[in-house]
Amino acid sequence: MEKEIKINFQTYPSYNDLPELEKTLFDKAKSVRENAYAPYSNFFVGCALLLENGEIITGSNQENAAYPSGLCAERTAIFWTSANYPDVKIKKIFVVGGPKDVLSSTPIPPCGGCRQSILEYEAKQKDEIEIYFASPDGEIIKTKSIRDLLPFSFDGSFL
Ligand code: THU
Repeated sequence: MEKEIKINFQTYPSYNDLPELEKTLFDKAKSVRENAYAPYSNFFVGCALLLENGEIITGSNQENAAYPSGLCAERTAIFWTSANYPDVKIKKIFVVGGPKDVLSSTPIPPCGGCRQSILEYEAKQKDEIEIYFASPDGEIIKTKSIRDLLPFSFDGSFL
């Protein structure tokens, strides 16, 4: 029997259509992207997290000559947050990525590994995290939870 899964997402045509708070998150993600250490891929990603206490935590991707030893922008920011604020919930994650020095307009979604990590922290904090992803230019995509980006997800409930 063939079945279907529906996912929900929202789009904003451009930066100017974002609410003020999301504009701030975009600005911070775009600016911390400059700190990416990505000499191997030349793909620069920045991420801004809004915490429930109003604080904004940022991160960028950090690569390594031994490729798997590097880390994506999202996980850099999320792991730092959980290490330093273990009991503060993450409300929103904003990702801005693309090739260095290119004004690309294709929204860059979180990779599979980052989706799995975000899922873990939604479970840990027992609350959903809004995900926004974008390029430096162009439309922005939003989901209300990582579950929309990770159907048939594997989490601790199976263990
Ligand atoms: N990257 C991220 O930082 N986040 C993602 O979700 C996608 C990929 C980084 C990892 C690597 O440094 C570069 O982009 C190319 O894959």
